[in-house]
Amino acid sequence: MCGIVGFVGTNKVKDVLLDGLKELEYRGYDSAGIAVLQGEQFSSYKAVGKLDNLVQKVADFKPKGFAIGIGHTRWATHGKPTELNAHPHLGTSSYVVHNGIIENYQEIKNQLTQDGVRFLSQTDTEVIVHLFEKHLAVEKTPFEAFEKTLSELEGAYAILLATKSMPDTIFFAKNGSPMIVGVNDENEKVFASSDAPLIGHAKDVLYLSDGDYGYVSPTELQLFNSDAKNIKPTFSPLPTSKLSAQKEGFRFFMEKEIYEQSDVISDALLGRIQDDGINFDELDPALFDGINEIKLCACGTSYHAALAASYLFERYAKVRASVEIASELRYKEPLLLKDTLFVVISQSGETADTLETLKMAKAAGLKTLVICNVDNSSMVRLADASVLTRAGIEKGVASTKAFATQMSVLWMLSLYVAQIRDTLTKKAMQKQLHALREVPNSVKINDALHEKIRRLSKRYLHGHGFFFIGRDVFFPLALEGALKLKEITYLHAEGYPSGEMKHGPIAMADPELFTIALMPKTLLYDKTKSNVEELSARDSTICAISPVTFDKADDFIQTKSHDHYMLEFFEMMVALQLLSMEISVRLGNDVDMPRNLAKSVTVE
Ligand code: F6R
Repeated sequence: MCGIVGFVGTNKVKDVLLDGLKELEYRGYDSAGIAVLQGEQFSSYKAVGKLDNLVQKVADFKPKGFAIGIGHTRWATHGKPTELNAHPHLGTSSYVVHNGIIENYQEIKNQLTQDGVRFLSQTDTEVIVHLFEKHLAVEKTPFEAFEKTLSELEGAYAILLATKSMPDTIFFAKNGSPMIVGVNDENEKVFASSDAPLIGHAKDVLYLSDGDYGYVSPTELQLFNSDAKNIKPTFSPLPTSKLSAQKEGFRFFMEKEIYEQSDVISDALLGRIQDDGINFDELDPALFDGINEIKLCACGTSYHAALAASYLFERYAKVRASVEIASELRYKEPLLLKDTLFVVISQSGETADTLETLKMAKAAGLKTLVICNVDNSSMVRLADASVLTRAGIEKGVASTKAFATQMSVLWMLSLYVAQIRDTLTKKAMQKQLHALREVPNSVKINDALHEKIRRLSKRYLHGHGFFFIGRDVFFPLALEGALKLKEITYLHAEGYPSGEMKHGPIAMADPELFTIALMPKTLLYDKTKSNVEELSARDSTICAISPVTFDKADDFIQTKSHDHYMLEFFEMMVALQLLSMEISVRLGNDVDMPRNLAKSVTVE
């Protein structure tokens, strides 16, 4: 996820921009840049990799007096992480930074290229600055040119633009990506993608809404809404603690990360879902040549993603898929055959057991692929190929958004392999693509659902254990639900395939045994229902999660009806995350840093 900063003021421009970008590092990035305008003079610096590289480049740049500046950390989507693709992007006399995606950029680019514009980068962003300058040549004012530019952009964006034609002004726009403007008593203005960079530089802040745009100068802050109406900005006081600012109003990082899932899944899908199939720029289809099996290997939550993915690979790509717990695979003297693609899944890319299995697979001559959230991690460096999940840094120890993006990427990967092996009809592929596009919506949380789960949580603070049950991909989801509960509530929980209950575990059923039943409408509903009824008949306390009302349940969390089981999967995933979190809150536990756990497990 990219980050944006901006500043209009005196003497501090370099520090505000660099400190701001530092604060936004947590969003994840692979290049960074700034552009500062003093009178007629633009100075711009960009660097690939860590922010320190940029800091070194600007060491001798010491702007004095009044200046305006914009800065950006970029997480590569359109085009590789190179200096040319890093923001800010230059036109002739203007610079732009942008978060999000301009969906119609290709159309605009074609038109501008015909008009003789030369593009330097592969990004969608560069069209904004050239389009602006095209309009600037004919419109009466730079602001009208900016307005005209926005009217032609489709997609999601947060934009800051600086131009020599109005050297004391920054133009801004927000639609779908976050952006905040802060002001202080010295008439300075600061922009950022979240609160934290503004602390110390602004007193009051304006949280921009989608469709808002306008401009700031030392003397003005003009705000317009999506109807192009000039509106009065409503400021609120800026939090003074960085930690609470980083939580962006949520009680815990885990809560923030649960709510962020819609955005990070959108990032994970970006550029990968195409009109008629799936595209991974980072993969060479030859990786799958001669492959007869996919072996997925991981630990913990990532293992649950692997297990769920194994259903998808067999179902869609018709390729044998096996799943291994990394700590087990290491010592079982496994048969590693060369026609197997070895796929490791890891949020951190550093988990010791998973890393060792990757080394084993490489030593055995297998082709390897890593699905990872951290670029340049040990696994990404070691594997033959990697796909990044783009969840941004996850601070809550209990994984939520990392799992959500792993599942999104793995679902796409199963379709990518299906495409290569030609195992899905065009119509079936279209159905999958349609459902995939809906995932960001399916994980949006409405207040009523959260409130319902919060209220329900008080009934689940005791008892002698929880069974989370489901079938098919809802079995790994049940395992994940049980793991989340164990991690942050310290209550005993197990995940089971629903059909397994009668082979032993059902002996435990009584009113003090809580069953969390995942009952999707679109996948094996009647089969799961029978299993839940068996538990209900033995008086287990049942909490059913389903779009279909179920009268044998003691408690019921109603999910929306979807026409694809994976959309039900994602919505139920959110319900399970919230349930664990709310139980943990009631028990007074440390939600973000549960006892005995570490975020990255780099020991065996
Ligand atoms: C649970 C959790 C862990 C990790 C596991 C593997 O919430 O986060 O179970 O999934 O330690 O870590 P990664 O994915 O970094 O390899």
